[in-house]
Order: sequence, then structure tokens, then C-alpha cells
Amino acid sequence: MPDFNFFDSVEKELELVEVNLASNVDSSVGLLNQASVHLIEAGGKRMRPAFTLMAASIFQEELEPIIPAAVALELIHLATLVHDDVIDNSDKRRGTETVKKAWGNRVSIYAGNFIFARALGLVAGYKRSDIVALLADASMKICEGEIIQMLSCYNVKLGLKNYLRRIERKTALLISVSCAMGAMLANALPGQIEALSKYGYYLGMAFQVTDDILDFIADEKILGKPTGSDIRQGVITLPALYALKHDIHRDELAVLLSSPEACEAKADRIIEIITNSDGIDYSYFVSRHFAIKLANS
Ligand code: IPE
Ligand code: IPE
Ligand code: MG
Ligand code: MG
Repeated sequence: MPDFNFFDSVEKELELVEVNLASNVDSSVGLLNQASVHLIEAGGKRMRPAFTLMAASIFQEELEPIIPAAVALELIHLATLVHDDVIDNSDKRRGTETVKKAWGNRVSIYAGNFIFARALGLVAGYKRSDIVALLADASMKICEGEIIQMLSCYNVKLGLKNYLRRIERKTALLISVSCAMGAMLANALPGQIEALSKYGYYLGMAFQVTDDILDFIADEKILGKPTGSDIRQGVITLPALYALKHDIHRDELAVLLSSPEACEAKADRIIEIITNSDGIDYSYFVSRHFAIKLANS
């Protein structure tokens, strides 16, 4: 079977995105420049720009005017990752050192803000207040998602509703906006924009559930970031939620997950209980459920 890459149809434009990403994080301040270049060169899937371009390509052939928006979305995503690695105390991302590990928390905060501000500058070029409003809303919600997550750590009493709320905000909405923005810039009709927005939303939900599964079962080298990191931070994701409710070791798990010390020192035991429970299969089921909704959206 020939190789199939989901993003093949916008391959040429993604190359332009790459060039623009590099030129847009340019700073005359050496430290900011190094941190930003390090980030861009580390790669990543470039999923959000790809979806913006693909969404626009449904409605128009000429994709060059969409490139700044695609770049802006990757920059906003990048800014959130730089800050997320501070919050999650993470040393590795995209197979290389995080900005946090290489330059520390203070540089990470400013590097994230710098990249975010560059994204705003790019979007300003469109002179479209509807687009700015959409991005502002998604960016605020990402912060809300991350804060809800932080406040929910080690709390074994919170359930599915809290989990869905935080993954919607921290991940799904930006992917939804990536799809909607492509359609908006290509002057699609309101119903078409709404359909693409929904598509991105369900994709984002499926994507974050899968990311949460991978945190338990992936090979760290292939994933390019640490595994087991959610548990060590006391972040209770879907596989853990399922095990807390249904596994025979649920009482032991609740005691361990409630304790910051145990989450660090007994992470292996916690991960063992969860991966041996049906929590991983259940989470795949939920992820598929969102994927089916996306196919029908
Ligand atoms: C990582 O996003 C953060 C999550 C929403 C899980 P990606 O998996 O898209 O990260 P990169 O851009 O490919 O590194
Ligand atoms: C996604 O959550 C973070 C953002 C969307 C900012 P995670 O914390 O699970 O992402 P990774 O696993 O560090 O990439
Ligand atoms: Mg993280
Ligand atoms: Mg994760």
C-alpha cells in the first residue's frame, strides 16, 4: 500500500509555514531568539496549521493568504506548550530538552509570552475582529483548562465531567478554532464554519484522550516526551478515573492518588494498577466515540 499522509494535500503550504515560523520568532535579544529557534527546530506534528489549511482548501484553491493564520495557530500552541512544561515540570518535548529544562522557568514564561504576542501580530494583519475574538476566547479557555487541571490534582472525588471540561478547554477548543479559522478566512458560510468547528472539537477531544492513554503506555523515545508524567503530577486522567471507579484495587489506588508523595514515590505501582485495569480499553472506547462523532459532524 502506498504511503498515505493525512496532510499530503497541504504539504507545499506546510513547507511555507515552516519557513514563516522560523522568521517570525526572530528576536534581537539573543536569549529569546535561542529559546524560540530551539522550539521551532524541535519540530512537532504541525497539526493545527495543517487543519487550518485543509479547512480553507475546501472553499478556495489559493492558500497563500491562509499561511499567516496557520503560523499564528502553531505559535499559540507552542506558547501553551512552553508554559505547560513549566506547570508539568517536564524536561522533554518533541524528543529534545524543553525550554524549561534548558533555560529555566523565567525564560520559559517570557518565551511563551513572546511567541504568543508574535501570533497576535500576525493575526492583526487580517483586520478581522471575528477572528481575533475567536482566538482570544480559545486562549482564555486554555488557561482555564490548565488551571482547572491544576486545582483538580490529587482529587480522587472528581469525575468524568471535570475531566471532559478540562480537556475541552486545554486542547479541543484550539483545534476547533484551527479548523473554523481556515473556513472563516476562505469566506465559508456560517453553517460550514460551524460544521468545521465541530469537526475540530471532536477531533481535539479524541486527541487529548489518546494523549492521556499514551502517557501510560507509550514508548518514551517514540512519544518524544516523558511518560507517566500525569501520574507523577497527580493529574487524574480518564484511564485513572475508570480504575478508581471499577478496579478491584480502587481503594488502594484512591489512597495513592490522593497523596503527592505517593504519586512521586509509588508512580510505578499506580501505573501498574491502571494499565492492568480496563481503564486503557475504556479510554480507547471513549476516544473512538469522539472520532465517530467527528466522522458524522
Ligand atoms: C501536545 O500537542 C499537547 C496536547 C494537546 C496533547 P501535540 O501532540 O499536537 O504536540 P506537537 O505540536 O506535535 O509537539
Ligand atoms: C495538553 O496537555 C497541554 C496543553 C494543551 C497546553 P498535556 O499536559 O497532556 O500535554 P503534554 O502531554 O505535556 O504534551
Ligand atoms: Mg504537559
Ligand atoms: Mg499529556
